[in-house]
Amino acid sequence: MNNKRKKMIAGNWKMNGVLASLDEIKAIRDSNKNVYCDVVICPPTTLLMEAKRIVRDSFINIGAQNCHHNNSGAHTGEVSSSMLADIGINTVILGHSERRTNNFETTALINKKIQASHSSNLTTIVCVGESELDRTNGQTKQIIQDQVMDSLPLSANEINTVIAYEPIWAIGTGKVPSAIEIMEIHKFIRSLIKKITNQSTAKKMRILYGGSVSTKNCSELLNLTDVDGALVGGASLLASDFNRIISAVKKQ
Ligand code: PGA
Repeated sequence: MNNKRKKMIAGNWKMNGVLASLDEIKAIRDSNKNVYCDVVICPPTTLLMEAKRIVRDSFINIGAQNCHHNNSGAHTGEVSSSMLADIGINTVILGHSERRTNNFETTALINKKIQASHSSNLTTIVCVGESELDRTNGQTKQIIQDQVMDSLPLSANEINTVIAYEPIWAIGTGKVPSAIEIMEIHKFIRSLIKKITNQSTAKKMRILYGGSVSTKNCSELLNLTDVDGALVGGASLLASDFNRIISAVKKQ
């Protein structure tokens, strides 16, 4: 079953990177010969256009880290999905826990944003995951069920949607759930996708793992059943690290 899903390695630069940092993208573009996965780099908004120019005709896709749920209008400081599509961006991360917490994004709002991104033909990486407290309270599955069921719109399919399971307590901490825990949650998410869509879509939709993915643990994580790639934060900022993670995806 795994063989049919092409793995994806996505880098989330968060609020990091200036023009000089684009050299990292050039190095990724120039040093990978055999790439067996989809590669997406999501730099901050200021770098999107230049990053897009740098990766032209290469295997790298450039994605954004957020978009507004409306197409245009009086929304100071916001960028819409159609504006991203207009400059050739084909992917957007939505529902990241940092935005849920720091920008008070609700699951209902994330649902609207995903609908907007689908209407602009963007592939949406939808982040879900439990907090440390949820985990301690044995609420992990309930939290993930609520996030997946309530945020995925009817338009979600295996082409326009990728789920990223990111336990909040694992982000930027160096802590990672056990292999068994990750496989159990990914399987659970796949069962939820089946409920929302259908068996065929659930089989084909990719589920990434995110949270302290590193050059050291990537091979093990990427080989787990139902793990179809990784959403990488800190280790995506340097080409040398990100290249090693991309290379951990072997020919299937
Ligand atoms: P990290 O971040 O790899 O630095 O833990 C992952 C993320 O927040 O997407």
